[in-house]
Amino acid sequence: MNAICISASNISDSYRQSTSYKLCERVKEILYQSGIGCEIIDLREFDLSPCIGCGKCFDSRRCCKDKDFNRIYNKIIDSDCIFFVSPHYAPIPAKLCMLLEKMEEITFLHWWKDNTYESEMYNIPAGIISHGGGSDWALSSYKAMVNDTIANALDTIQCKTVPYNDEWNTGISLPVHSVIEKEDIFPVQTYDWEAIEQKLQEYVKCVVQTI
Ligand SMILES: Cc1cc2nc3c(=O)[nH]c(=O)nc-3n(C[C@H](O)[C@H](O)[C@H](O)COP(=O)(O)O)c2cc1C
Repeated sequence: MNAICISASNISDSYRQSTSYKLCERVKEILYQSGIGCEIIDLREFDLSPCIGCGKCFDSRRCCKDKDFNRIYNKIIDSDCIFFVSPHYAPIPAKLCMLLEKMEEITFLHWWKDNTYESEMYNIPAGIISHGGGSDWALSSYKAMVNDTIANALDTIQCKTVPYNDEWNTGISLPVHSVIEKEDIFPVQTYDWEAIEQKLQEYVKCVVQTI
């Protein structure tokens, strides 16, 4: 079995220190403990473009203008489960939006002509993990803006978003522990990695159980 874990951060300088990337590495390790291989897809390494609605994907089911999208899409449709790890931006990072909108368009155009159409991603379990610059008080808004937004797109794409529980029905959201002001222009965020590890373990288990 193999999984794909998408790191949606766009911040170029942080590279492996990106919170999204670090969370993906943890997801990968947890999956490995269950005997599932996982490839991390770091969207910063892909040159995606927005969907312009040309409709050419109706015949090819691929984007005729975006080789990088097709590379990611081919990996996703070959996987047994997908994880989306996304920071809150405004509300989601632009490259993640481009990825979702192209997957949506390919599926929607076929479904529109044939309501029994099953997409190439039909029923693939998807885990959604959001985070941002805020602590516990911010999590419900990250759910509304990040998790629910991604889950809504995945619904059209016909992936199966895996709930964490009744309240967190579109995945989990992870808080920062503290935000510190230093000389740098950016706030410095710290995390309780032990608590995060525990929640990730629980949620990844929920996703694996649905494969
Ligand atoms: C363009 C942009 C917009 C952001 N907007 C918000 C925001 O509205 N609310 C928030 O809590 N954090 C916001 N953040 C902070 C990020 O969510 C936060 O720093 C996150 O940990 C970055 O994750 P990363 O290290 O994986 O890139 C924003 C960051 C960027 C780059």
